[in-house]
Amino acid sequence: MLNRDKAKQIVNNFKNKKILVVGDLILDKYLWGEVERISPEAPVPVVDVRKETVNPGGASNVAWNLSSLGAQTYMAGVVGKDENGKILERLLIEKNIKPVTVVDESRPTTEKTRIIAVSQQLLRIDRESKENLDKSVESLLVENIKDILPVVDAVIVSDYGKGVVSAALMEFLKNSGKPVFVDPKPSNFYLYEGITVMTPNRKEAYQCIKAEKTESVESVGRKIMEELKTDTLLITLGAEGMALFEGDSITKIPAKARKVFDVTGAGDTVIAVLSLAKVSGASWKEAAYLANYAAGYVVGEIGTAAVDPETLLRLIPQ
Ligand SMILES: Nc1ncnc2c1ncn2[C@@H]1O[C@H](COP(=O)(O)OP(=O)(O)OP(=O)(O)O)[C@@H](O)[C@H]1O
Ligand SMILES: [Mg+2]
Repeated sequence: MLNRDKAKQIVNNFKNKKILVVGDLILDKYLWGEVERISPEAPVPVVDVRKETVNPGGASNVAWNLSSLGAQTYMAGVVGKDENGKILERLLIEKNIKPVTVVDESRPTTEKTRIIAVSQQLLRIDRESKENLDKSVESLLVENIKDILPVVDAVIVSDYGKGVVSAALMEFLKNSGKPVFVDPKPSNFYLYEGITVMTPNRKEAYQCIKAEKTESVESVGRKIMEELKTDTLLITLGAEGMALFEGDSITKIPAKARKVFDVTGAGDTVIAVLSLAKVSGASWKEAAYLANYAAGYVVGEIGTAAVDPETLLRLIPQ
């Protein structure tokens, strides 16, 4: 289906493409430690923290994937007026992502902290607001996006349901004339009519149209396309790979992972590679195959990982 020469042609264009990611910024924190005893205060382990790391998460993980692939990447979203907001903006710049961020004094920067010991996650602590943005913050964000939109090749909406993605924002993006790729939050499904392509995982796809578990993926996909009035859809199926819907045809693409360590962020990799490959001259099938290879690689790495162009090309058979 996709050989390395064809993949090379596509991947060589990555560096010339400009992509804007719009969505919920999350600061991913990891506390790495060791457990040597049970707390005298309560029947819980005491974690002795040895290392602390931070990564751009949520929508900014999509942006990180894009910049690692060589794309010129812009990240539009909201941070709080706090230390985490500054850390996140610094991380974006470090990873070669241009921030198009608005500071919202009324909310904290979304933070997810994982405590990891004995090679497993013991606890996750979230700090966040899921409220809709204030109208003033929303219009400031739209104004900032307006300045960037004319130069970008595509927009990716990475909706983690923390309030950035709204009806007004989606209307504005859909009327921009740019292709709009959406990683959906099922509760916002009604906002996505008329977009270019959506990349739900299986569970999200079923939730979008409130389908029964007994319904087939094929039927769920067709209904989604009808509702959204789109002719392309990609449903990711975890260990079973993905299903690409184009008009009346469905292509099942088997998963490519050789080893599986950490599946978090695989969906972010899928939408980043799919969009970038599409605007770089790939057909939908070629873009989906490339995305599937890339996701197969990142699930084999510990922690969310991003793939660079050379690594991606090495994954494709000659
Ligand atoms: N266990 C697995 N084995 C092989 N490949 C996998 C596995 N899990 C995920 N993948 C790859 O990653 C892609 C996306 O995975 P999945 O459908 O789980 O997305 P997701 O639930 O949106 O992920 P995320 O955690 O980022 O939200 C799949 O289409 C497949 O290519
Ligand atoms: Mg996902």
